[in-house]
Amino acid sequence: MTIASAPGKVILFGEHAVVSGVAALGAAIDLRVVAKVEDAPGKLEIEVPNLNLNVKGFALDALKKEILSTKICEDAFQATKYVSTVLQKFDVRNVKVVVESEIPPSSGLGSSASVVVASLASINFHLGLGLSIDELAKEAYKIEKEVQQGLGSPTDTALATYGGYQMVREKAESIELPELKLIVGYTGVPHNTRLEVEKVQNFRESCPQIVDPIFQAMGEISRSSLNCIREQKLNKLGELMNANHGLLEALGVGTKELSELVYASRGAGNARGAKLTGAGGGGCMVAIPSPEYDGVIKAMTSIVQAGGKAFLVTTGCEGVKIEH
Ligand code: PMV
Repeated sequence: MTIASAPGKVILFGEHAVVSGVAALGAAIDLRVVAKVEDAPGKLEIEVPNLNLNVKGFALDALKKEILSTKICEDAFQATKYVSTVLQKFDVRNVKVVVESEIPPSSGLGSSASVVVASLASINFHLGLGLSIDELAKEAYKIEKEVQQGLGSPTDTALATYGGYQMVREKAESIELPELKLIVGYTGVPHNTRLEVEKVQNFRESCPQIVDPIFQAMGEISRSSLNCIREQKLNKLGELMNANHGLLEALGVGTKELSELVYASRGAGNARGAKLTGAGGGGCMVAIPSPEYDGVIKAMTSIVQAGGKAFLVTTGCEGVKIEH
């Protein structure tokens, strides 16, 4: 049996702008997807027993195209689509793949990229396909986009593969930065990345004179943030987060639920700054807690009191790895 794991991610700055080639900064986080591959002669099965947040699982016989679970869960079903595309692409047979995740699905924390990267890495090792880490990142990006059928940057798959921090323009580039402790607040509202990306890109097409300067400002924010993280200037970093949130609101991807968590964390939560993360339209926000002794608790409590789920995450974690 082979077990591989890959991290989830947060986009710290520049989401949406990155789809148009402007710089974005993302970080791998310490929530992971685990993919187990074992020999199963004559079979080809995919099982997703749980996906965090008590989501019920889903299992598929990919050879007979038969559903093996009694109840269908949409998110777990989606995850099996990513795995079955990996299996098809490399003409894999005679295995069972089991995927488990700590990352809430459809939340902007990169669960689908991590599912693709972890299952591809596990299959690569188990069957000796000989893919290098760069080939793995490239294939994972192609597979994720094929399933999502949309526009998109390589941010999520690069972070799931290489971990750490990635500065993405057209290509992803690893950047050495120290870790940050961040609070992620999940609205509980799933989002659809493709729809949000289409919405913003349509807005850009109809009003480039408005949207392009917003994208450029986001690019400047991404670049300025590097020094703040390097030197741990958390107040300044928080200011940049607040500015980036405002720009995302201007693009139309904010929601009432996201704003409630953002403002609760900045207010009662005493966070240094907060913004939505990922495509918006639901999903998650991220906040920098105050460095005071009770900063983390205060920020997390404020998010829960505003109706969200709060996670403490560490950024800059290790990328894909073979666990066993
Ligand atoms: O998949 P999400 O929700 O983390 O959003 C990805 C961020 C976008 O910039 C909106 C799209 C992309 O592919 O970069």
